[in-house]
Amino acid sequence: MDLAGKVAIVTGGAMGIGYAICEALAAQGASIVIADLKGGAAAADKLRAKGHKVAHVDADVSSEDDTQRMAIAALDAFGGIDVLVNNAAIYSSLSLKPFEQLTVADWRKMLDVNVIGQFLCCKAVLPTFKKQSSGRIISISSGVAFKGNPGMLHYVASKGAIVSMTRTLATELGEHGIQVNSVAPGFTLSDGVHNNPELASTVSGFSVRGRALKRDMLPADVVGAVTFFAGPHSAFITGQTLVVDGGAYYH
Ligand SMILES: NC(=O)c1ccc[n+]([C@@H]2O[C@H](COP(=O)([O-])OP(=O)(O)OC[C@H]3O[C@@H](n4cnc5c(N)ncnc54)[C@H](O)[C@@H]3O)[C@@H](O)[C@H]2O)c1
Repeated sequence: MDLAGKVAIVTGGAMGIGYAICEALAAQGASIVIADLKGGAAAADKLRAKGHKVAHVDADVSSEDDTQRMAIAALDAFGGIDVLVNNAAIYSSLSLKPFEQLTVADWRKMLDVNVIGQFLCCKAVLPTFKKQSSGRIISISSGVAFKGNPGMLHYVASKGAIVSMTRTLATELGEHGIQVNSVAPGFTLSDGVHNNPELASTVSGFSVRGRALKRDMLPADVVGAVTFFAGPHSAFITGQTLVVDGGAYYH
């Protein structure tokens, strides 16, 4: 129970990797705030049925108003915020396209959610983190940022931005006792991936072949790195990105 008494916001926590992260942080004793476009109420009910303390807020991370409401909802529900997991992103709904077929509108939507969304969430929790001189930000990047996977240039760029933002935020916020780290998963059979057969069938086979550990990756494989960065065993680690992909890319 390393996180007993702590409060964690998980964006995109209604399903997939985000939901698995909620379960893992709650199992360590944290109170959870799920911030998602949809499905937050049902996910919160599922976790409450397991005895966890959970609140939810319907929020679009690309909206500054919504991210401010998200922080207020956490403070109202549990009186504090200790951990922000920036997990919400556009990924599993992607159609793979050669880069020259991507439009400026595709790019703007991607950057709005995956990059500016994380920026807004960090900004929303900052006053609380500064006041208490502590806080953990854990942002979900992706192994594609290192490997340069084809067919999703705007997504790959957005996940590269998370690695760079993690470094700069860690540098800027260290003096306030705030730690910023990132987790870069490999291809993971999340709920969203299961709902996109094109993505699942195109990427699944070569992902398993390209790993040292030859099996599918599941949301449960991501959570250990996130609980580590949220908890006491990473007290002197900041600005880092941990690749969790069964040994496909050695970072
Ligand atoms: N699944 C993979 O193979 C994989 C690999 C590497 C990294 N990732 C990253 O892991 C994270 C989770 O991926 P997943 O596969 O579980 O996704 P998913 O599609 O299964 O779930 C994403 C969740 O985010 C929510 N969401 C989407 N846009 C949002 C917005 N604007 N505001 C609030 N919530 C929003 C969705 O409603 C959903 O609940 C993402 O950051 C993704 O880029 C996924």
